Amino acid sequence: MNTPSTQSWTPDGWRQFEARQLPAYPDPAAVAAVEAELNSYPPLVFAGEARDLTAQLADVAAGKAFLLQGGDCAESFADFHPNTIRDTFRVLLQMAVVLTFASKMPVVKVGRMAGQFAKPRSGDMEDQNGLSLPSYRGDNVNEIGFTAESRTPNPQRMLRGYLQSAATLNLLRAFASGGYANLHQVHKWNLDFTGRSLWSDQYKALADRIGESLDFMAACGISPDTVPQLKGTSFFTSHEALLLGYEQAMTRQDSLTGDWYDTSAHMLWIGDRTRFAGSAHVEFLRGVGNPLGLKCGPSLEPDDLLRLIDTLNPGNQPGRLTLIARFGHDKVEQHLPRLIRAVEREGRHVVWSCDPMHGNTIKAAGGLKTRPFDRILAEVRHFFAVHKAEGTHAGGIHIEMTGLDVTECTGGAIAITDEGLSARYETQCDPRLNASQSIELAFLLAEAIRAEHDSRPARAA
Ligand code: PEP
Ligand code: CO
Repeated sequence: MNTPSTQSWTPDGWRQFEARQLPAYPDPAAVAAVEAELNSYPPLVFAGEARDLTAQLADVAAGKAFLLQGGDCAESFADFHPNTIRDTFRVLLQMAVVLTFASKMPVVKVGRMAGQFAKPRSGDMEDQNGLSLPSYRGDNVNEIGFTAESRTPNPQRMLRGYLQSAATLNLLRAFASGGYANLHQVHKWNLDFTGRSLWSDQYKALADRIGESLDFMAACGISPDTVPQLKGTSFFTSHEALLLGYEQAMTRQDSLTGDWYDTSAHMLWIGDRTRFAGSAHVEFLRGVGNPLGLKCGPSLEPDDLLRLIDTLNPGNQPGRLTLIARFGHDKVEQHLPRLIRAVEREGRHVVWSCDPMHGNTIKAAGGLKTRPFDRILAEVRHFFAVHKAEGTHAGGIHIEMTGLDVTECTGGAIAITDEGLSARYETQCDPRLNASQSIELAFLLAEAIRAEHDSRPARAA
């Protein structure tokens, strides 16, 4: 097997490397035909948009902005509905307003949306009642139902994934610029939330201060009618670049710069299971111009991280690489400092983001996979504390959430119990924060960000 190198790169070069987590399709010719068809379809995003996101993430790397990345663990074909997209988008905006106010910094909003259809799994096979079938790998690979037919990887599903991504992205673009994202409207939703929340006094005080600021701005003539920025927002898409045949088919050479971009989303990330030395996923992503994420779990050693950084961002371009720490609430304090120190020692520019979901998954009493809200919160708090101690910027969070009122993570102000999980447990994959847990997390994060802010020397303008 080859090792990823700084040598020449081609969109299909990854095929010479070790590719884990890819489906075993029964008919390779059918896969090649679908990939060729996808390659003739329009790109979903434009290279210039990906460069804009890199520039915004460079501000995060410099400590001047905050990254909010969130959405489904896995999007599904069955749950494809405008209201689902709208509600998740709305909750992300609500969180962003709270975080912007708390941090006094721009919040870069990136959805795990419009393409998050492929999942890495711990085993290739799943056993149920003596029957062994291929694991479910996301809706653009196979179906979740436990029958041999459903679980057989079917390349045609990639076409459906492309179309659903295109329609989702179209709606997100319309919401972002068509008036739905109006700041005053988003604030009203937050007031509605704080009116209902069990924690309402604390959150309401913050929401009231946001309201006063908006009133003050309006009195000064700054309103959505006079300042178009208040009427809309920028919103980007991202997913794990796991299904490399699909990603390669969506990769195009930018006519302006001649560089290659994976046009399936603005930002792509490499999962914790596919970032090993010699990985085809690393080889593929090092060659595309999009901003990249890299999941960092407990098995990642500082030297391996530095090698990955050199491969993925040889030019040390700020904003190019986001390190997404996902250690678990009880491991982050042990693992994160040595990674931060290695990165700082070598002078590498990165965004540090916290995924407090993937290291905190447990089985509830009834057997359902869940994540206790207090562990999610504990990981975020430890992440902030470590950065404060190291003098680095806790740059963002990466969460699995939905705008729906599901019951998948336990705890939160509404206190979902182990027994309550089954009421609306709808995820295709990992348990997500529901709408109120997500907004509550934003309010709690606001306090941590304010503490970071207060402890910093005043920034030069
Ligand atoms: C995910 O983000 O859904 C995921 C599988 O994460 P990780 O690679 O960090 O386990
Ligand atoms: Co997940």
